[in-house]
Amino acid sequence: MRNKSEKQKAEAGQGYQLMLSPRRIQRRIKELAKELSRDYRGRVPVLIGVLNGGFIFLADLIRHLEIDCEIDFMKISSYGDETMTSGWVKLLKDVDCQVEGRDVIVVEDIVDSGLSIQFLQRRLQRFRPKSVKYVTLLLKEGAARVPYEIDYVGFRIPNEFVVGYGLDQAQLLRNLSGIYVKKG
Ligand code: IMP
Ligand code: MG
Repeated sequence: MRNKSEKQKAEAGQGYQLMLSPRRIQRRIKELAKELSRDYRGRVPVLIGVLNGGFIFLADLIRHLEIDCEIDFMKISSYGDETMTSGWVKLLKDVDCQVEGRDVIVVEDIVDSGLSIQFLQRRLQRFRPKSVKYVTLLLKEGAARVPYEIDYVGFRIPNEFVVGYGLDQAQLLRNLSGIYVKKG
């Protein structure tokens, strides 16, 4: 028999444990979209997805929004291929859209040390947006190394390394529909 892929192993519970099922994730995203639609009624915000991890969350979130919106992406890197943050953030792709005077919503996959959020906050302020709010699918409890503020949180999770639903380990496992924690 062929060797199983890492994805198949995770789905079979071999070496990985399911933390958030696809159903739970989708249910929570609908709630977040409802909140955002209410808070931004009558406005046309630009949602900035943070690559790479945030792309699946952004794609699912905007389809549940009732308001009009634009999207753009920023790409930053702090982990390399490690499971620990390197402590510094590199800008790999800046925003392309006109940010000045706009209502901006930054869409993150996960907030861990807070360094990425802090970096994005500083970067975006230079473009003089009208407002900036932050939404993250996951927030790791007790992992903050710098102060930050998040406006919308999907799930608060324990301080463990997770994969799936956009989140990778050494670039793999982003294509899992659920979120898993590595065992052992
Ligand atoms: P922070 O700058 O330490 O808050 O880390 C934020 C970024 O690190 C996230 O946007 C992810 O791309 C990555 N990251 C943090 N924790 C995890 C994890 O548990 N699994 C996969 N990627 C993670
Ligand atoms: Mg990220």
